[in-house]
Amino acid sequence: MYSNISGGITTEPSAMLIPMDDHMVHRGHGVFDTAAIMDGHLYELEQHLDRFLRSASLAKINPPFDRENIRRILIQTVSASKCKKGSLRYWLSAGPGDFQLSSTGCYQTALYAIVIQDLSTFDSRGIKVVTSSVPIKPPEFATMKNVNYLPNVLSKLEAEENGAYAGIWLDGDGFVAEGPNMNVAFVTKDKELLMPQFDKILSGCTAKRVLMFADGLVREGKLRAVSVRNVTVEEGKKADEMMLIGSGVLVRPVIQWDDQVIGDGKEGPVAHALLNLILEDMKSGPSTVRIRVPY
Ligand SMILES: Cc1ncc(COP(=O)(O)O)c(C=O)c1O
Repeated sequence: MYSNISGGITTEPSAMLIPMDDHMVHRGHGVFDTAAIMDGHLYELEQHLDRFLRSASLAKINPPFDRENIRRILIQTVSASKCKKGSLRYWLSAGPGDFQLSSTGCYQTALYAIVIQDLSTFDSRGIKVVTSSVPIKPPEFATMKNVNYLPNVLSKLEAEENGAYAGIWLDGDGFVAEGPNMNVAFVTKDKELLMPQFDKILSGCTAKRVLMFADGLVREGKLRAVSVRNVTVEEGKKADEMMLIGSGVLVRPVIQWDDQVIGDGKEGPVAHALLNLILEDMKSGPSTVRIRVPY
């Protein structure tokens, strides 16, 4: 764990404290991001860091260090944890202050990080999703990864109450948007991969990598085309395949959306191929997506 407020890295959980007067705690004024740890390497750290700093700028949080130093601290934190498989999660907060609404009384921007070990294997079994009745965040907030995840939490709980894995949000115009911590994609009957564009939802690092691999599947003739555009619910529900995409799920096939069985109700070949490509990328991808942790 790391906190610049307490002054460095610790492996003692009771030493990792966040002050109650931190603006992220009492006003939700913070942003966060993640990166998977696989075989002692950080996956897509640069891509997640880009989004992290973009979110901080949109949230008017000035990082306490430059990008290079944040990157160095994060890698050192993983190194100190000795964790070889799991995830790294990190936050930038306006920091401790005077309990006011404005953050002008916060005296030091905070950087926090934690390493979470997870030795489980990725599940590729098809799951069920339901349309979320919890309102989607407006684009300004959905496109920035800030700590206000109450709608996401409520959407997930609603899905679980209905025997589903996740809720699917529709945007203000009724188009398919995203899940509570993942993006969505479809494969149409004529083998076109469809993904909702990122203007009203979070620009997923995994989804962007999947798009690159999907272009490869087009070259191999396994897909006809790849389109990032508005996707209607009707198009989605009559697709041959539907999948959830994100750092947590990687690529997870969806076999039922509300009452509609997707395709033949079984995990599809494109989701299967994309999951394998992402797993391979995590284990042996290029240095642009894979940083070795010096333990
Ligand atoms: C709302 C939301 N959408 C999509 C994603 C997927 O993004 P990524 O692939 O970068 O994990 C996340 C991930 O946390 C998310 O919270």
